[in-house]
Amino acid sequence: MNVLGIETSCDETSVALLSDDNLKANLISSQDFHSKYGGVVPELSSRAHLQLIKPLVDEALSKAQVELSGLDLIAATAGPGLIGALLVGLTFAKGLAFSLNVPFIAVNHIEGHIFSGFLMKDKPEFPFLALVVSGGHTLLLYVKDVTNIVQLGTTVDDAAGEAFDKVSKMLGFGYPGGPKIQQSAYKGDEQKISFPVAKLNNKYNFSFSGLKTAVLRYIQKNYSNGSKIPESEINDISASFQKAAVDALIINTETALINYDVKSISLVGGVAANSRLRDEMLILSKKYGKRIVIPDQEFCGDNAAMIALRGKFLFEIGRQDKLNVNPYPSLVEGYFQ
Ligand code: KG4
Ligand code: ZN
Repeated sequence: MNVLGIETSCDETSVALLSDDNLKANLISSQDFHSKYGGVVPELSSRAHLQLIKPLVDEALSKAQVELSGLDLIAATAGPGLIGALLVGLTFAKGLAFSLNVPFIAVNHIEGHIFSGFLMKDKPEFPFLALVVSGGHTLLLYVKDVTNIVQLGTTVDDAAGEAFDKVSKMLGFGYPGGPKIQQSAYKGDEQKISFPVAKLNNKYNFSFSGLKTAVLRYIQKNYSNGSKIPESEINDISASFQKAAVDALIINTETALINYDVKSISLVGGVAANSRLRDEMLILSKKYGKRIVIPDQEFCGDNAAMIALRGKFLFEIGRQDKLNVNPYPSLVEGYFQ
């Protein structure tokens, strides 16, 4: 079965071709030009998707050596995401499905991330715990099977990646902040500054806005006259912030591991590329004797391979969507409870 996956929820235009279990193409075009604006500009993103979508579909098909007539299923992200950006990929996918008369599935972007571990050779085993950490979302989930997903906790304010991006801006690194903070943190001392880890009533929820404000206060207090922050100090702030952010994610994951009997853990989403977080999750998984699945970098950020895979999973259990599906329902036919 040949599944074409399309992802345009934010600033990555991505097209994938999944042939049964064989991923034959996963093209990702990142819209780097947003960095000069300090974040993603929605309208510019939509326009870039519009220019890129057709050439990328052509390239993916040619790379996979599959003809349009060889497609059996088309899956596209329908939300959550930027409305204009989603519209481009979703409308293109619906048009293609209509013209080829093949089934179509609207995929929930977060569900794409949750199941992205299945793109790896060593796949997660049900039930598993999923920590989804991206620029827009921070979720801890108990995944019983393909359609039974229990949301244990989420962020009450900023997403984990968003906190990295905001602190990055404060330190003058720009967007996207995660990789830059990580690089700087390598050279810093994470014990230097003690930034707070929020404790909330729901022990599975996260909050990153206090941490972000603590970093801002620290900078304002010590460099109030606009004086330049020395590089070594920037590195120490990066390292100390990264430690606090990772600690927050690890603490809740550990609580879930204590309370939920799972077979494996999956760490997914853009922030899963963070090496400090990956290391800590590995330590945690060993402590509790659980297998951990962390997708390769190419599948951590937004990508169409995860959308094609999620589409295929849903198709296999009998789901098919009508072509009048709208983008941006917060959870597209989601299976969260
Ligand atoms: O999943 P993703 O590609 O897009 C969303 O759906 O949001 O995640 C992007 C987020 C950005 O906030 C970016 O700063 C963060 O992932 N990120 C990282 C790292 N690489 C990307 N955060 C921390 N450390 C990294 N190495
Ligand atoms: Zn994402």
